[in-house]
Amino acid sequence: MTITLKTEGDIQLKGTIRVPGDKSISHRAVMLGAIAKGKTKVYGLLTGDDCLNTIECFRKMGVVIRRDEDYVEIDGTGFDGLQEPVEILDVGNSGTTIRLMLGILAGAPFHTCLIGDASIAKRPMDRVALPLRQMGAKIDGRADGSFAPISIRGGGLEGIDYVSPVASAQVKSAILLAGLHAEGVTTVIEPQSSRNHTERMLRAFGCQIEVDGLKTAIKGKQDLHGTTIHVPGDISSAAFFLAAGVIVPNSELKIQNVGINPTRTGIIDVLKEMGANIIEETASDEIEPAADITIKSSNLKGIEIGGDIIPRLIDEIPIIALAATQAEGKTIIKDAAELKVKETNRIDTVVQELTKMGAKIEPTDDGMIIYGGTKLRPALVDSHGDHRIGMMLAIASCLAEGETFIENSEAISISYPNFFQHLKELKS
Ligand code: S3P
Repeated sequence: MTITLKTEGDIQLKGTIRVPGDKSISHRAVMLGAIAKGKTKVYGLLTGDDCLNTIECFRKMGVVIRRDEDYVEIDGTGFDGLQEPVEILDVGNSGTTIRLMLGILAGAPFHTCLIGDASIAKRPMDRVALPLRQMGAKIDGRADGSFAPISIRGGGLEGIDYVSPVASAQVKSAILLAGLHAEGVTTVIEPQSSRNHTERMLRAFGCQIEVDGLKTAIKGKQDLHGTTIHVPGDISSAAFFLAAGVIVPNSELKIQNVGINPTRTGIIDVLKEMGANIIEETASDEIEPAADITIKSSNLKGIEIGGDIIPRLIDEIPIIALAATQAEGKTIIKDAAELKVKETNRIDTVVQELTKMGAKIEPTDDGMIIYGGTKLRPALVDSHGDHRIGMMLAIASCLAEGETFIENSEAISISYPNFFQHLKELKS
């Protein structure tokens, strides 16, 4: 679907919104709720396409999951209650679903086949297939199990000590979830800290897990017990309006109940370092901390972004790149080669689409260089089926007087089904 966004004269963004639930936390709540014993109630679960696919996958394994207006209720079967699915499990566009499910299924003594869309078929699965095979799972798929469609026959796992070559929460989580059903202890050592939602959620379900710096250890054969989860708003969705509030002149926004887990707040640190006026007030501190965030338009300056902060803002790089087009001076993003294996190659898609709107931006091997102070112009642009590229371009259109057309805009419902409604409310 192509959406037309019209910007007449100088616009400003004003008001208060609550963004939908965190995508990473929502997936984990459904997954652990399904394999726990007893009922789990999840409030604020994201009902975007990715998480709906996770729900469908567990339904196909016999788990009863009800959707009410305010919450989702899962009748956990316990791990041993999962049934061998008769149908293929379709993860759609969701990398988190396929990789974390492989971790869970590695311990399940039956056969499962997983497929996804054209983007999933291009994303590397060997990063989870290799360690899961070392633990004893039988995995096959395209290119010797490196790409979906992928099939797995689990069971009989032994714990391993795994030194991960990538700082990836999906890899870490897949191994820990397999470790939960393995003999002995499983440890994962990461090169840099990635998001820790799996660890926090496992504890909430009564599981013991030890974290010592970059090393995480889990003892096998632990039972999970159903619980109640409140999912905070997704900082990766809030990021679009945080950046919009800074770069659209004369704006002032409040975003309520945003998850501020320190493994995810790189976007706030970067925008502040660039000169943004952002204030956080604690809203709650349960399994995951949350805050109300207020943001006002500010003058930004270019900075260098790289190193340990990259995993803390990896999904926010498209919108940071847009913010950098409005900063004074040059912004360099480096150490971010992982961008190439996201929903799209986000180095290519960010550079290609922002260039169409007049940005001065160059790709590099592991990131990009953005020359600030550019006036954007409207254009015919494309999300390439990547939700975060679509939302970044919609925010860019607020700075481009005239009509911007975004092709494949339906992808946005993967993580933020009411994005355009919020954008409209804040514009008026
Ligand atoms: C996610 C982890 C990140 C992130 C993705 C969601 C998760 O990927 O980019 O959108 O829920 O664990 P990696 O773990 O592969 O870096």
